[in-house]
Amino acid sequence: MKFCILNVTYLLLILFIMIIMGDALFRIKLYSGKSNKNGHRDHGPKVPRHSKTGHSIGHSYGQPSSHQVGPAKPGHPNRPRLIRQAQVLLTNDFNSDYYGMISLGTPPQTFKIMFDTGLSDLWVPSINCQTGCTNTAEYNSAVSTTYQPNGTPFFIGYGDGSNVTGILDQDVLNFGGVIVQNQIFAEITTLNNPDSIYDGILGMGYPSLAAPDTTPPFNNMINQGLIAPVFSFYLNRDVNGQPGGELLLGGSDPAHYIGALTYVSVSQQGYWQFAMDGGSAFADTGTSLIAGPTPDIQAINNFLNGVENGDGTYNVDCNAFMQGQLPKIEFTIGGTVFPLTPAQYIQSNGDQCLSGFSYNTQQSDDMWTLGDVFIGPYYTEFDFGNNQLGFAQSK
Ligand SMILES: *[C@@H]1O[C@H](CO)[C@@H](O)[C@H](O)[C@H]1NC(C)=O
Repeated sequence: MKFCILNVTYLLLILFIMIIMGDALFRIKLYSGKSNKNGHRDHGPKVPRHSKTGHSIGHSYGQPSSHQVGPAKPGHPNRPRLIRQAQVLLTNDFNSDYYGMISLGTPPQTFKIMFDTGLSDLWVPSINCQTGCTNTAEYNSAVSTTYQPNGTPFFIGYGDGSNVTGILDQDVLNFGGVIVQNQIFAEITTLNNPDSIYDGILGMGYPSLAAPDTTPPFNNMINQGLIAPVFSFYLNRDVNGQPGGELLLGGSDPAHYIGALTYVSVSQQGYWQFAMDGGSAFADTGTSLIAGPTPDIQAINNFLNGVENGDGTYNVDCNAFMQGQLPKIEFTIGGTVFPLTPAQYIQSNGDQCLSGFSYNTQQSDDMWTLGDVFIGPYYTEFDFGNNQLGFAQSK
């Protein structure tokens, strides 16, 4: 890690950080390491956010039957309808988790879901759940007339040691009012996922990250001709603000950003990942903070006089924060500067002031993870059609 004065140029970098404090201006070169091809995720501080370590799935099974989708048929809510855009309102849980509702089956069974761009599977707890489902909604296949068995074992383990186990099912999914046919998802019978305030997770990463022979919900929606191949997240950083957030399927919502989106190409179609000089970053709604390579995160937090909490997160002095002594930190992506003010990268509960910059204590990251601390201030578009990400200032 080097602190470099202004006239040292990093114009070749797609992304770098600049710290501005008073008249002094420093740039921190973010990437010095190799790119991490098996990239994984860090997790936030308050509510455990998962660091994906990959999943192992049992034997393969038959393909879902293809389904031809027709135009809207008023009065038949369970028929596929051609919908150009659909909105999912999100609830903001202390700027740490954002969740919204989906339903599965006929009649619909509803679930509180975290929409996670760093995963690609859909899972919900099962009525047959043995462990960890006491406070969650549970899917009951026996009462759904559209349920179809699949039975393939499903397991996903996360880097923080938590994991979920179950089997695959197939049913009708209502996601933002869009009816997706033949959605394969996991019903979870062992939920080692403590403290989650949501029932399940709906992955919005690329299909390559999904369990074998399964298609993520949004990609099914595209394949069934229901929606334009792009979605966008608005995450409200005012914990009491309404709505808490908005996931727009099929486009981006100009009501929630200012100016034009700045686009960068997806460099590897798994995570929503973009290349950088010697490394990469990805946009992840499943991570609360910003995570990065340990030396870089240490250097930034040292600069903020942060104190380590022992889990890869840091607290900073709240007086320094409140007295305006902390610097602005700027990311440059695709040639556009995206500043974060201290109020945007520090989460204060009055007594403690948590830095938005964390590292993974389980394994060293070469990849940067732009979690909610970044996606909140910067409206983010995820474009499967052009394999690109767009960022613009939120409003
Ligand atoms: C899943 O999590 C439980 C509880 O933390 C742990 O005991 C178990 O070893 C984990 N299983 C796997 C396969 O990682």
